[in-house]
Amino acid sequence: MKITVIGLGYLGATHAVAMAKIGHQVIGLETNEEKLDSLRSGKAGFYEPGLDEALVEQLAAGRLTFQSKHDENTASAELHFICVGTPQNKGSDSANTSYLFSAVRDLAPILHKDALVVGKSTVPVGTAALLTEELNKLVDFDAQLAWNPEFLREGTALEDSLKPDRLVVGVNSQFAEAKLREVFASMISSGVPFIVTDIPTAELVKSAANAFLATKISFINSMAEIAEVSGANASALAEAIGYDERIGNKFLRNGVGFGGGCLPKDIRALTARAEELGVGQAVSYLKEIDQVNLRRRVRVIALLKSELGELSGKKVLVLGAAFKPDSDDIRDSPALDIALLAKKAGAEVIVHDPVSLPGVRSKHPELICVEDLHEAFSGVDAVVLATEWKQYRELDAKSIADTVSNRLVIDGRNVLNVKAWQQAGFKVLALGRTIEGN
Ligand SMILES: NC(=O)c1ccc[n+]([C@@H]2O[C@H](COP(=O)([O-])OP(=O)(O)OC[C@H]3O[C@@H](n4cnc5c(N)ncnc54)[C@H](O)[C@@H]3O)[C@@H](O)[C@H]2O)c1
Repeated sequence: MKITVIGLGYLGATHAVAMAKIGHQVIGLETNEEKLDSLRSGKAGFYEPGLDEALVEQLAAGRLTFQSKHDENTASAELHFICVGTPQNKGSDSANTSYLFSAVRDLAPILHKDALVVGKSTVPVGTAALLTEELNKLVDFDAQLAWNPEFLREGTALEDSLKPDRLVVGVNSQFAEAKLREVFASMISSGVPFIVTDIPTAELVKSAANAFLATKISFINSMAEIAEVSGANASALAEAIGYDERIGNKFLRNGVGFGGGCLPKDIRALTARAEELGVGQAVSYLKEIDQVNLRRRVRVIALLKSELGELSGKKVLVLGAAFKPDSDDIRDSPALDIALLAKKAGAEVIVHDPVSLPGVRSKHPELICVEDLHEAFSGVDAVVLATEWKQYRELDAKSIADTVSNRLVIDGRNVLNVKAWQQAGFKVLALGRTIEGN
């Protein structure tokens, strides 16, 4: 099927490649010329394992092309996926849906009546109805719009797009359902559950899934707060309750919490939308979920101060800047926030990250970015492990013991081999538990 994918960021670039990989003829549209040049040269423009290779393969196969504007080429597409951003509005918790409205306004002049518009961005429930209204003002037929929320996880985005846990489509016509069944036919036939709902449910599914995941992480981090003052161990507690199948152990690791371009903004947008709809109390707990999450970052600074006293004149190394391993996404990253909080508290802050330093450098020149991991430890008074990259989990503590000026490490993700670090002479502190043997 000939399709367009509009907006080629983390979601759209991955989706465009995945759709080409399953055999569709894909035209990617992006307003940012720099991103377009990068995509045309076979680079997605962000770090995602396996994506650049798949992009190069699909460009070579001739199934994927990129352009900045609609024309007769995009006019003949049967389906248009909209994947533009829905960031948090400045000064408010609500989502900025203006990019979606621009995208449908751009689309209207070339849209034909047998083409389906499919939103994939994460939106406040009710957005699709407003977009349909907007489209119908601009075309002289009944525009067909559906919603197909995306559940990919950065770090495994391509794999998640090709083999999703489930496909959810919100439709209001048989035509829309048939088109979506056709575009996802290969996935459906390989057994991926295909859930057909009304449009508001499909919009809400994504917000609900992210609210649930954020709640799970903040739940264990709220237990960590209690563990820290009572001598209990939140990591052991997570393991113990996680064996209960009704609870499950995934997303139940205490640490510095969640971040990225989705969970924080999505729980805030859901709260704002529920308030607009007059049912704010239904999700008022999400405000506390957000606060628990943000308090974890402050807790790391408190631990640093409890060991080092005032941070001015102290050198702190933060390991990691991306919000999670295998991603270079620093949006609302706990790791980056911890680095900035330490800087604000007066410390000289060194940041290491295997892939996200270019982004950190351009946005936060006040932080010292060091590419070489071993060099990053030089003369530091404390090390904070903030993103659980494999190379940090597997660090040989002995090899850096003589490089630091003070042997103190804070394990913000509860992933270090505490004994090995202690044997190398480090005092180890962690979130949510008291470490014996320091
Ligand atoms: N990043 C993820 O892991 C992920 C996962 C699931 C859902 N989502 C959702 O997907 C949406 C996009 O997220 P993202 O992380 O890819 O954002 P992003 O900011 O990385 O990408 C959005 C892209 O859209 C482009 N764009 C904006 N307006 C455009 C227009 N009118 N025409 C063409 N291009 C346009 C921007 O230049 C940008 O490249 C959001 O709603 C997000 O919540 C993201």
